[in-house]
This record gives sequence, structure tokens and C-alpha cells, in this order.
Amino acid sequence: MSGNTDVVTNQFTLGDEQATINLAHAFALACEASTAVNKGLVVYLKGDLGAGKSFFSRAFIQTFLPGQKVKSPTYTMVESYKTSIVTIHHFDLYRLCDPEELEYLAIRDLLLGSFVALVEWPQKGEPIFPDADVVIELQHPPGFESENRKVEITAHSTVGKAVVEQMMTNMRE
Ligand SMILES: Nc1ncnc2c1ncn2[C@@H]1O[C@H](COP(=O)(O)OP(=O)(O)OP(=O)(O)O)[C@@H](O)[C@H]1O
Ligand SMILES: [Mg+2]
Repeated sequence: MSGNTDVVTNQFTLGDEQATINLAHAFALACEASTAVNKGLVVYLKGDLGAGKSFFSRAFIQTFLPGQKVKSPTYTMVESYKTSIVTIHHFDLYRLCDPEELEYLAIRDLLLGSFVALVEWPQKGEPIFPDADVVIELQHPPGFESENRKVEITAHSTVGKAVVEQMMTNMRE
């Protein structure tokens, strides 16, 4: 969550749901491969309602936990999944009225050790939620076929850059 780096941006078109699943798997495997995530990785998932943030999160979690039921954290705001490698915290801050409410979620205690935090609607947590290592922005362009999405992935820290570079390698293989 720290360290200066040039911002690295990658853009893709996701033609269908399977393309989003493949991207989530490649990203998850990059997280698994990176010892950097031992210090924790914060991933902001941006995009409008229905852009595919939860869909991406489910595929990410199921890379580590195949078949895992992934509940929407819309009301609980966070659902956590312990894997043998990292703990995944899936946040949805859409219903947060005031960022101060994050105190009740004890985020400082949650975001310790080896974790990946996937954060839907991170804007609602500003300025209290920790900064992103990686920002994944999904767009559902109007007028496009219904499964078509655009995605932009940007690294904002040294750790984030290492993970995104590993993901790019995974996708080429
Ligand atoms: N290429 C694609 N990638 C992701 N989702 C897709 C794609 N094509 C179609 N979908 C569908 O779009 C929907 C995305 O819903 P999802 O709940 O993931 O959105 P969201 O961004 O989490 O919205 P919200 O802000 O309401 O939480 C799902 O029903 C999914 O099946
Ligand atoms: Mg969602």
C-alpha cells in the first residue's frame, strides 16, 4: 500500500462473461504468486451498477475456493473468505452513508497480514478507506452487446505494479 511507482494502465475488452472470469483468474493467480501480497493488497473495483464488479469478485474468490458460494456484501458491507494463501475481504460500500461508519467494521483489524481486499464502491469510503494498490474499472458501454465490457486496470503502488505485471504474464501464457 505504499511506494512510488509510475502508474501502469492496461485496457481490455471483455467480450463475454467467460472473458471476465479468465481475467479474474489471471489476477487471482498473480496475487497468489506474489509474495508482495503478504503485506496486503487493496483492489478498488469501480464501475456503474451492473458493470460486473461482483461478478469479477466471485470469479476471483472461486479461483482459491472452487464452488464457494459468494454472498453479496451489500448489507453486511464485508464478507471474508479464508484461503490457505490469503484472506480475501470482499467489501461493498454502496450503502455506506458516512465513511466514519467504517470504524464499526474495524477495517484496521481486518486489513492486517496477508490479505486481498476487493472493494466495490470505494468512493463511498473516501478518505478513510486505505488507498488502492490496484484499481480495476469496469465499463458497460451503452449500445454495445449486453455481455460486452471494457476494463481498465491501473497499478498505484510497487506491490500493485508487481501483481499487474504478473497478471499480464499469466494472460499471455
Ligand atoms: N462480460 C461480463 N462481465 C461481467 N458481468 C457480465 C458480463 N456480461 C454480462 N454480465 C452480467 O452483468 C451482471 C453484472 O452484475 P454485478 O452484480 O457483477 O454488477 P456490479 O458491478 O457488482 O453492480 P453493483 O454496483 O450493483 O454491485 C451480471 O448479471 C453478469 O452475469
Ligand atoms: Mg456488486
